[in-house]
Amino acid sequence: MGPPGSGKGTVSERIVRDFGLDHLSSGDLLRSHIQNNTDIGKEAKKYIDKGHLVPDNLMVDLALKELEQRKSGWLLDGFPRTVSQAEVLSQNQTIDIVVNLDVPFETIIERIKQRWIHFASGRVYNLEFNPPKVPGKDDITGEPLMQREDDKPETVKARLQKYEEQTKPLIEYYSNLNKLQSFAGTETNVIWPVVKKYLEENFFKNK
Ligand code: AP5
Ligand code: MG
Repeated sequence: MGPPGSGKGTVSERIVRDFGLDHLSSGDLLRSHIQNNTDIGKEAKKYIDKGHLVPDNLMVDLALKELEQRKSGWLLDGFPRTVSQAEVLSQNQTIDIVVNLDVPFETIIERIKQRWIHFASGRVYNLEFNPPKVPGKDDITGEPLMQREDDKPETVKARLQKYEEQTKPLIEYYSNLNKLQSFAGTETNVIWPVVKKYLEENFFKNK
């Protein structure tokens, strides 16, 4: 977990690359529903475009259904995002570790302006920090990159505010359960080796 633009997608890609977990990003899942114009997508778009969270019941149904289809060994990115989502999740699945990315809001606002994504895979680029090999094209498929609708400055502001109100309480929730590990910093390239070492020593060693 972490605020919008803290690097959840970027760090998740590296965890998947090095530890082979199955990555489920709630944002990517919702965006693919929007792209396919499903009923869920139409409903979710109303909230996402304003920078609000989609309602808990919609999100929980979607995420749990998706998890049931997967084998064990997954990594959630962006879900749960409220205490009530976390409570339902814990009734259905076991969580081993919660990684929290603690990045200042000023850093986030600058980063998001530079973000481009490959829509189909959710791969994330940043024009300064990790640019694509060919400008405007995905490294793996060569398909065009795009910017997210909800990355407009006023929407980013609303997302950060919703994070403060609705998601931040989860830090205390998982901390009380002794599952939370926070990593503070402004550089994913500095945070990542520390996250990797932590996961190797505390989780994957016994798997
Ligand atoms: P979602 O897609 O999850 O968006 P988010 O949480 O706002 O997070 P982001 O994906 O924007 O950022 P990230 O932390 O993945 O960072 P990234 O790696 O891209 O959700 C979208 C919307 O869906 C929500 O607003 C909500 O409406 C809805 N939703 C989703 N889940 C929900 C839930 N559970 N309940 C209710 N509603 C839900 O990095 C950001 C940028 O920084 C990139 O450009 C990256 O390349 C760059 N970067 C990373 N590290 C560095 C660095 N060290 N230096 C410079 N740039 C860097
Ligand atoms: Mg993301």
